[in-house]
Formats: sequence, C-alpha cells, structure tokens
Amino acid sequence: MFVAIMGYGVVGSGVANCLKQNYNHIKENSVPEGLEVRYILDLRDFPGDPFESLVIHDLDTIIDDPEVKIVVETMGGLHPAYEFVTECLKSGKSVVTSNKELVAMKGYELLLTARENNVNFMFEASVGGGIPLIRPIISCLAANEITEVAGILNGTTNFILTKMINENMPFDEALKIAQSLGYAEKDPTADVEGIDACRKICILAALCFGRHVYPESVHTEGIRNITLKDVEYAKKWGGVIKLIASASKTGDGHITASVSPAFVRNESQLAGVNGVFNAALLRGNAVGDVVFYGQGAGSMPTASAVAADVIDCAKHTCCRKEFGWKASEEGFVIPYDDFVSPFYIRGNADAEKVASSFSNVQFIENAPGEFALITPPVSVKELKSKLDGIDGIGSVIRVTDY
Ligand code: HSE
Repeated sequence: MFVAIMGYGVVGSGVANCLKQNYNHIKENSVPEGLEVRYILDLRDFPGDPFESLVIHDLDTIIDDPEVKIVVETMGGLHPAYEFVTECLKSGKSVVTSNKELVAMKGYELLLTARENNVNFMFEASVGGGIPLIRPIISCLAANEITEVAGILNGTTNFILTKMINENMPFDEALKIAQSLGYAEKDPTADVEGIDACRKICILAALCFGRHVYPESVHTEGIRNITLKDVEYAKKWGGVIKLIASASKTGDGHITASVSPAFVRNESQLAGVNGVFNAALLRGNAVGDVVFYGQGAGSMPTASAVAADVIDCAKHTCCRKEFGWKASEEGFVIPYDDFVSPFYIRGNADAEKVASSFSNVQFIENAPGEFALITPPVSVKELKSKLDGIDGIGSVIRVTDY
C-alpha cells in the first residue's frame, strides 16, 4: 500500500525513516502487502537526501494517484494544512496528522469530512508525541466515564522547569539551553506561553468529554513569570512547579479546562516527570487513575505514533474507525472565574491582611517583608476580589491534588 507525506520536516522525515526502517516488521506483523512511501510533498528540494527522488511540489500528484490510500500531514500550522487535508479526505484518502493546531481548531470538521467520505482521520501524535493517549482513551478506557485529564504536555517548558528546580537555574538561562538543544523554537512563544499545551488539552478534552473545545475557551498561562523563589517555596511545601494542562467534568454537563503553572506534590506521579518528557493522567470511574509517560516530542518518537496510525488506516481501508465528538457549544467550558482550587500566594504585602480574608491558610513562609501561603479552595473570582486593592502580591499559582 502506498503512502504520501506532506511536510518533510522533523516529524515527516521521521515518518519516512520509521516506515522504511521497520518495513519488514510492519509487513510481517500488520500490513501483509507492505507500506511504502511514494511521494513527499514539500516546497523545498532535498538534494542528497535518501528520499530525494520522492519529493514533489504539487498536491495534485497525490490526489490523482489512486494507489495512494493514506496521506500523512506533518506540515504544521493551520493553513494550508487544513485545505490540503480536506482535499485528501474528499478524494477518498485517509489522513494521519501530528498537527495539534489543526486538530484543536478543525478536528470536528475534519472528522465529519472523513465520515462523509468513508475514510479515516487519525491524530495519535498530536497530543503526547510518541505516548499512546488517543487510542487508550477511545479503546482501552472506553468503558469508563473519564472525569478528569491532566498532564505535562509540553517538553520545552518541562525542560526549563526541571532546570529551575534541579539546578536553581533562572528561567532565561534555561530557555537558552532549551533553544540550543533544539527543543524550543527560535520564537518560543507557543511553548513558553502554554499555547502548545492548550491545543493538546483541547484535543484530550474533546475526546474525553465529547464536545469540541476551542483553544480560546481555555484559560492559558505560561511559565515566564515563575521565579526561583516560587520554585524554592514549592520545595518547602513538599512539591514542584509544573505546567499543568487539565480538564475535568463539573457534574452539571460542563467542564473546566485550563493550562497554568501548578504546585504538584512530590508524591504525585506527575512530579517525577522531568526534562523533555511528558505525561498524562486520566481519571476513570472504573479504572481509577492511569498515567501515561514518555517522549512527547522529537522526530522518531512522534513518527512512531504517526506510523502506528498509518498502519491502523491500512488495516481499516474497508471500514472506518468510528470515533469523534460533537460540535462545540457555548458555555461548555465554564469561565475560568468559576474554577475552584487552592492557590499559592507569595508577596511582600501585609501577610496578615492577605491571610485574614480566607477562612484558613497554610503558611510556607511568614517573615518580615516576605510571605508565602496556600489558601483553602476558592473560586478564581473570589480570589481576585480578596486580593483586589492589596499591593505587593508577587505570584499566584494553582495548587493541584494529583
Ligand atoms: N514544542 C513541543 C514541545 C513539541 O516542546 O513539547 C511537541 O509538540
């Protein structure tokens, strides 16, 4: 069976290599007729590359070839990925993507288009890179009502926070190292500001809770404002600061969804996820908590998930895999103001003034000119009103119970 790849970057080249390297294994175990890359669509040429002869520059070559049944989209970005994927699906080809922006923004529409054309649209690599997450949710955990999903879904920010926690390294220095190692982009905004993690939690929330969740409905904070002082107080409290993307059912048909730095207890399975590794915790009403851990980025780990989807498509050319979610609905994600959690507050304000506005607080530090405390659970709205007009609040960070 023949496959085309659109976008020959880090992931696309990984997919080409993975399918070639494991050709015999895949043929013997999964797809008896074999899986071969026939075209690689890219704007660029790749002289000297082992796949140089497969490079094309025109989508029609793929669309017009009836032997290409599966197309991999690893271009990234929304446009023209959305248009190209739509055209492939409409021409009767299954599509596999690693593109989280595409799935977070257009997943509902593309799943519908796939259904209308009786083909598959799969995106295992779009959330946890090489970590199996989507198939476990739609298959292995299908008998559970999932009540909560929470994860460390961005390797770059986790690498930076790990440096801050383990080596007392300031944010800017850690970011520079992440960039020099190729983890963070030259413009690291999407990673550092939580945008990448937001797209991923949107996809998980849609799968777990049944409706499309758009990134703009998800409160998103990055890690730029985390200081070494906060890291130190988290240690004193008995935990670490992680960038947590989470979503949970509220019990009345709505969900919460957010991305923000958060205090995580040392005993939590998420606390030990270090460096560029990712993890996701799923809370099911039958299974309890399950945690998935592994490499959330990188050429071959991501290619592993893409290639697995390609194999699944190859095994389901006659019958599509039925999965998806409903359209988005206004108010499905509750406003962040209604989100309830304990919070860590640090500052040089009048500690007693801050503490006395809550029923009880747990002090981590209460020294002249500096305090750090944990509040009882409060809504964000309540928290804002209690801190309104108080000068000298340094940091406010969510505290989790994972
Ligand atoms: N920039 C992302 C990360 C890559 O650091 O996790 C995978 O989405």
